[in-house]
Amino acid sequence: MSAPILQATGVVKRYGKFTAVAGVSLAIEANTVHSVIGPNGAGKTTLFHVLTGTVPITEGSIRIDGEEIAHLPDYLRVAKGLARSFQVTSLFPNLSVRENLRLAAQGRAPREALRFWRSPESLVAAGDKAQALLARLNLGAVAERPAGALSHGQQRRLEIGMAIGADPKVIFLDEPTSGMGIDDIGEMKQLIHGLRSACAVVLIEHNMDIVMDISDMITVMQLGQVLVQGTPQAIRSDERVRRAYLGSMITGGAA
Ligand SMILES: Nc1ncnc2c1ncn2[C@@H]1O[C@H](COP(=O)(O)OP(=O)(O)O)[C@@H](O)[C@H]1O
Ligand SMILES: [Mg+2]
Repeated sequence: MSAPILQATGVVKRYGKFTAVAGVSLAIEANTVHSVIGPNGAGKTTLFHVLTGTVPITEGSIRIDGEEIAHLPDYLRVAKGLARSFQVTSLFPNLSVRENLRLAAQGRAPREALRFWRSPESLVAAGDKAQALLARLNLGAVAERPAGALSHGQQRRLEIGMAIGADPKVIFLDEPTSGMGIDDIGEMKQLIHGLRSACAVVLIEHNMDIVMDISDMITVMQLGQVLVQGTPQAIRSDERVRRAYLGSMITGGAA
Protein backbone atom coordinates (compact mmCIF):
# COMPACT_ATOMS: atom_id res chain seq x y z
CA MET A 1 0.00 0.00 0.00
CA SER A 2 1.24 3.50 -0.81
CA ALA A 3 2.02 6.11 1.85
CA PRO A 4 -1.18 7.59 3.27
CA ILE A 5 -2.20 11.02 1.99
CA LEU A 6 -3.07 12.08 5.55
CA GLN A 7 -1.37 10.66 8.61
CA ALA A 8 -2.51 11.74 12.08
CA THR A 9 -0.46 10.39 14.97
CA GLY A 10 -1.24 10.56 18.68
CA VAL A 11 -3.75 13.39 18.32
CA VAL A 12 -4.94 14.77 21.67
CA LYS A 13 -7.48 17.52 22.27
CA ARG A 14 -8.17 18.69 25.80
CA TYR A 15 -10.72 21.27 26.90
CA GLY A 16 -9.47 22.23 30.34
CA LYS A 17 -9.34 18.97 32.26
CA PHE A 18 -11.63 17.17 29.86
CA THR A 19 -9.97 15.09 27.13
CA ALA A 20 -12.24 14.99 24.09
CA VAL A 21 -9.71 13.25 21.83
CA ALA A 22 -7.28 11.02 23.68
CA GLY A 23 -4.46 9.97 21.36
CA VAL A 24 -5.99 9.11 18.01
CA SER A 25 -3.92 7.89 15.08
CA LEU A 26 -5.47 7.73 11.67
CA ALA A 27 -4.04 6.95 8.23
CA ILE A 28 -6.12 8.05 5.26
CA GLU A 29 -5.25 6.46 1.92
CA ALA A 30 -5.63 8.39 -1.33
CA ASN A 31 -8.83 7.83 -3.30
CA THR A 32 -10.72 6.08 -0.54
CA VAL A 33 -13.78 6.81 1.57
CA HIS A 34 -12.71 6.47 5.19
CA SER A 35 -15.58 6.74 7.66
CA VAL A 36 -15.31 7.70 11.31
CA ILE A 37 -18.20 6.38 13.37
CA GLY A 38 -19.01 5.94 17.03
CA PRO A 39 -21.60 6.85 19.64
CA ASN A 40 -22.53 10.47 20.34
CA GLY A 41 -19.82 12.24 22.28
CA ALA A 42 -17.10 9.85 21.07
CA GLY A 43 -15.03 12.81 19.83
CA LYS A 44 -15.58 12.51 16.08
CA THR A 45 -16.42 16.15 15.42
CA THR A 46 -13.66 17.34 17.73
CA LEU A 47 -11.18 15.16 15.84
CA PHE A 48 -12.33 16.77 12.56
CA HIS A 49 -11.98 20.24 14.07
CA VAL A 50 -8.44 19.47 15.18
CA LEU A 51 -7.45 17.95 11.84
CA THR A 52 -8.87 20.85 9.82
CA GLY A 53 -7.51 23.49 12.18
CA THR A 54 -10.84 24.81 13.44
CA VAL A 55 -9.56 24.32 17.00
CA PRO A 56 -5.90 24.13 18.07
CA ILE A 57 -4.40 20.70 18.71
CA THR A 58 -3.18 19.89 22.24
CA GLU A 59 -0.68 17.20 21.24
CA GLY A 60 0.17 15.10 18.23
CA SER A 61 1.18 15.21 14.61
CA ILE A 62 -0.81 15.70 11.40
CA ARG A 63 0.95 15.13 8.10
CA ILE A 64 -0.45 15.70 4.66
CA ASP A 65 1.69 14.11 1.95
CA GLY A 66 4.40 13.82 4.58
CA GLU A 67 4.33 17.49 5.52
CA GLU A 68 3.59 18.49 9.12
CA ILE A 69 0.53 20.78 9.34
CA ALA A 70 -0.57 20.34 12.97
CA HIS A 71 0.21 23.93 13.86
CA LEU A 72 -0.78 25.67 10.63
CA PRO A 73 -3.86 27.91 10.67
CA ASP A 74 -6.89 26.46 8.88
CA TYR A 75 -6.55 28.52 5.69
CA LEU A 76 -2.98 27.33 5.18
CA ARG A 77 -4.14 23.72 5.62
CA VAL A 78 -6.63 24.41 2.83
CA ALA A 79 -3.73 25.56 0.68
CA LYS A 80 -1.97 22.23 1.44
CA GLY A 81 -4.94 20.35 0.04
CA LEU A 82 -7.23 19.84 2.97
CA ALA A 83 -10.91 20.72 2.50
CA ARG A 84 -14.04 20.55 4.55
CA SER A 85 -17.59 21.20 3.61
CA PHE A 86 -18.81 24.34 5.29
CA GLN A 87 -22.40 25.11 6.14
CA VAL A 88 -24.63 27.19 3.86
CA THR A 89 -22.91 30.37 4.99
CA SER A 90 -20.05 29.58 2.61
CA LEU A 91 -22.36 29.94 -0.39
CA PHE A 92 -23.05 33.26 -2.07
CA PRO A 93 -26.86 33.08 -1.95
CA ASN A 94 -27.52 35.76 -4.57
CA LEU A 95 -25.10 34.34 -7.14
CA SER A 96 -26.11 31.49 -9.41
CA VAL A 97 -25.02 27.95 -8.68
CA ARG A 98 -22.66 28.17 -11.66
CA GLU A 99 -21.11 31.43 -10.43
CA ASN A 100 -20.58 29.96 -6.98
CA LEU A 101 -18.74 27.00 -8.49
CA ARG A 102 -16.73 29.22 -10.81
CA LEU A 103 -15.51 31.26 -7.85
CA ALA A 104 -14.58 28.12 -5.95
CA ALA A 105 -12.74 26.76 -8.99
CA GLN A 106 -10.70 29.93 -9.37
CA GLY A 107 -8.54 29.41 -6.35
CA ARG A 108 -7.82 27.43 -3.27
CA ALA A 109 -8.43 30.31 -0.88
CA PRO A 110 -11.47 32.60 -1.08
CA ARG A 111 -9.01 35.50 -1.23
CA GLU A 112 -7.51 33.97 -4.34
CA ALA A 113 -10.91 33.35 -5.91
CA LEU A 114 -11.83 37.01 -5.63
CA ARG A 115 -8.74 38.33 -7.38
CA PHE A 116 -10.03 40.32 -10.32
CA TRP A 117 -6.84 40.34 -12.36
CA ARG A 118 -6.85 36.65 -13.15
CA SER A 119 -5.82 35.81 -16.71
CA PRO A 120 -8.55 35.11 -19.30
CA GLU A 121 -7.15 31.57 -19.68
CA SER A 122 -7.67 30.76 -16.04
CA LEU A 123 -11.17 32.22 -16.16
CA VAL A 124 -12.06 29.90 -19.05
CA ALA A 125 -10.57 26.99 -17.13
CA ALA A 126 -12.67 27.89 -14.10
CA GLY A 127 -15.76 28.00 -16.31
CA ASP A 128 -15.01 24.54 -17.68
CA LYS A 129 -14.42 23.24 -14.19
CA ALA A 130 -17.69 24.72 -12.95
CA GLN A 131 -19.43 22.93 -15.82
CA ALA A 132 -17.85 19.60 -14.86
CA LEU A 133 -18.74 20.15 -11.22
CA LEU A 134 -22.38 20.85 -12.12
CA ALA A 135 -22.58 17.40 -13.66
CA ARG A 136 -20.80 15.69 -10.79
CA LEU A 137 -23.12 17.35 -8.27
CA ASN A 138 -26.21 16.65 -10.40
CA LEU A 139 -27.07 20.36 -10.27
CA GLY A 140 -27.07 20.99 -14.03
CA ALA A 141 -30.82 21.63 -14.10
CA VAL A 142 -30.52 24.43 -11.52
CA ALA A 143 -27.20 25.90 -12.72
CA GLU A 144 -28.56 29.41 -13.33
CA ARG A 145 -30.65 29.62 -10.17
CA PRO A 146 -29.44 31.65 -7.20
CA ALA A 147 -27.78 29.35 -4.66
CA GLY A 148 -30.13 30.70 -1.99
CA ALA A 149 -33.13 29.33 -3.90
CA LEU A 150 -31.96 25.70 -3.86
CA SER A 151 -33.49 22.99 -1.70
CA HIS A 152 -31.65 21.91 1.44
CA GLY A 153 -30.28 18.80 -0.25
CA GLN A 154 -29.11 20.74 -3.30
CA GLN A 155 -27.39 23.33 -1.11
CA ARG A 156 -25.51 20.61 0.77
CA ARG A 157 -24.30 19.17 -2.53
CA LEU A 158 -23.26 22.62 -3.69
CA GLU A 159 -21.24 23.10 -0.50
CA ILE A 160 -19.32 19.96 -1.34
CA GLY A 161 -18.81 21.26 -4.85
CA MET A 162 -17.39 24.48 -3.43
CA ALA A 163 -14.97 22.45 -1.33
CA ILE A 164 -13.77 20.20 -4.15
CA GLY A 165 -13.53 23.11 -6.58
CA ALA A 166 -10.16 23.81 -5.00
CA ASP A 167 -8.88 20.31 -5.95
CA PRO A 168 -8.22 19.14 -2.39
CA LYS A 169 -6.28 15.98 -1.56
CA VAL A 170 -8.60 15.18 1.36
CA ILE A 171 -12.11 16.36 2.10
CA PHE A 172 -13.77 16.13 5.52
CA LEU A 173 -17.55 15.71 5.69
CA ASP A 174 -19.32 15.81 9.06
CA GLU A 175 -22.78 14.24 8.80
CA PRO A 176 -23.51 15.46 5.27
CA THR A 177 -26.92 13.75 5.18
CA SER A 178 -28.26 15.19 8.44
CA GLY A 179 -31.76 16.60 8.08
CA MET A 180 -32.21 15.14 4.59
CA GLY A 181 -35.11 13.29 3.04
CA ILE A 182 -34.66 9.93 1.38
CA ASP A 183 -34.14 11.23 -2.18
CA ASP A 184 -31.50 13.72 -1.13
CA ILE A 185 -29.76 11.05 0.95
CA GLY A 186 -29.48 8.82 -2.12
CA GLU A 187 -28.00 11.66 -4.19
CA MET A 188 -25.54 12.58 -1.44
CA LYS A 189 -24.44 8.99 -1.05
CA GLN A 190 -23.72 8.71 -4.77
CA LEU A 191 -21.86 12.00 -4.78
CA ILE A 192 -19.62 11.04 -1.84
CA HIS A 193 -18.85 7.66 -3.34
CA GLY A 194 -17.90 9.32 -6.62
CA LEU A 195 -15.58 11.80 -4.91
CA ARG A 196 -13.03 8.99 -4.46
CA SER A 197 -11.92 9.45 -8.03
CA ALA A 198 -10.85 13.01 -7.16
CA CYS A 199 -9.62 12.84 -3.56
CA ALA A 200 -9.74 10.99 -0.26
CA VAL A 201 -12.96 11.42 1.71
CA VAL A 202 -13.09 11.36 5.50
CA LEU A 203 -16.70 10.94 6.50
CA ILE A 204 -18.60 11.17 9.78
CA GLU A 205 -22.00 9.60 9.15
CA HIS A 206 -24.73 8.21 11.41
CA ASN A 207 -26.57 6.40 8.63
CA MET A 208 -25.03 2.92 8.83
CA ASP A 209 -26.44 1.81 5.48
CA ILE A 210 -24.46 4.57 3.81
CA VAL A 211 -21.33 3.88 5.86
CA MET A 212 -21.39 0.16 5.11
CA ASP A 213 -22.14 0.69 1.41
CA ILE A 214 -19.53 3.27 0.44
CA SER A 215 -16.65 3.04 2.93
CA ASP A 216 -13.33 1.45 2.05
CA MET A 217 -12.23 1.72 5.67
CA ILE A 218 -14.03 2.45 8.93
CA THR A 219 -12.57 3.78 12.17
CA VAL A 220 -14.78 3.37 15.21
CA MET A 221 -14.27 5.87 18.02
CA GLN A 222 -15.38 5.61 21.62
CA LEU A 223 -14.55 7.93 24.52
CA GLY A 224 -12.04 9.92 22.48
CA GLN A 225 -10.09 6.88 21.32
CA VAL A 226 -10.01 4.48 18.41
CA LEU A 227 -11.92 1.39 19.44
CA VAL A 228 -11.33 -0.59 16.26
CA GLN A 229 -10.60 -0.05 12.59
CA GLY A 230 -11.40 -2.24 9.63
CA THR A 231 -13.33 -2.85 6.46
CA PRO A 232 -17.14 -2.59 6.53
CA GLN A 233 -17.33 -6.37 6.57
CA ALA A 234 -15.05 -6.62 9.61
CA ILE A 235 -16.76 -3.77 11.48
CA ARG A 236 -20.23 -5.13 10.84
CA SER A 237 -19.45 -8.34 12.70
CA ASP A 238 -17.27 -6.84 15.46
CA GLU A 239 -18.59 -7.56 18.91
CA ARG A 240 -16.78 -4.55 20.47
CA VAL A 241 -18.53 -2.20 18.07
CA ARG A 242 -21.93 -3.67 18.84
CA ARG A 243 -21.28 -3.25 22.55
CA ALA A 244 -20.11 0.36 22.14
CA TYR A 245 -23.38 1.26 20.43
CA LEU A 246 -25.47 -0.70 22.91
CA GLY A 247 -23.73 1.10 25.74
CA SER A 248 -24.49 4.46 24.17
CA MET A 249 -28.15 3.51 23.80
CA ILE A 250 -28.40 2.50 27.45
CA THR A 251 -26.89 5.81 28.54
CA GLY A 252 -29.16 7.73 26.20
CA GLY A 253 -26.95 8.43 23.16
CA ALA A 254 -28.77 8.40 19.87
CA ALA A 255 -25.99 7.25 17.55
N1 LIG B 1 -15.64 23.29 22.98
C1 LIG B 1 -15.78 22.27 23.85
N2 LIG B 1 -15.54 22.45 25.16
C2 LIG B 1 -15.68 21.42 26.03
N3 LIG B 1 -16.04 20.18 25.68
C3 LIG B 1 -16.32 19.94 24.39
C4 LIG B 1 -16.20 20.96 23.39
N4 LIG B 1 -16.50 20.43 22.19
C5 LIG B 1 -16.81 19.14 22.41
N5 LIG B 1 -16.70 18.85 23.74
C6 LIG B 1 -16.95 17.55 24.37
O1 LIG B 1 -16.12 16.59 23.72
C7 LIG B 1 -16.81 15.34 23.62
C8 LIG B 1 -16.79 14.89 22.19
O2 LIG B 1 -17.68 15.70 21.46
P1 LIG B 1 -17.83 15.59 19.88
O3 LIG B 1 -16.49 15.65 19.27
O4 LIG B 1 -18.82 16.59 19.44
O5 LIG B 1 -18.41 14.11 19.73
P2 LIG B 1 -19.13 13.41 18.48
O6 LIG B 1 -18.96 14.26 17.28
O7 LIG B 1 -18.48 12.08 18.36
O8 LIG B 1 -20.57 13.24 18.87
C9 LIG B 1 -18.20 15.55 24.19
O9 LIG B 1 -18.21 15.08 25.53
C10 LIG B 1 -18.36 17.04 24.13
O10 LIG B 1 -19.24 17.49 25.14
MG1 LIG C 1 -20.36 15.11 15.96
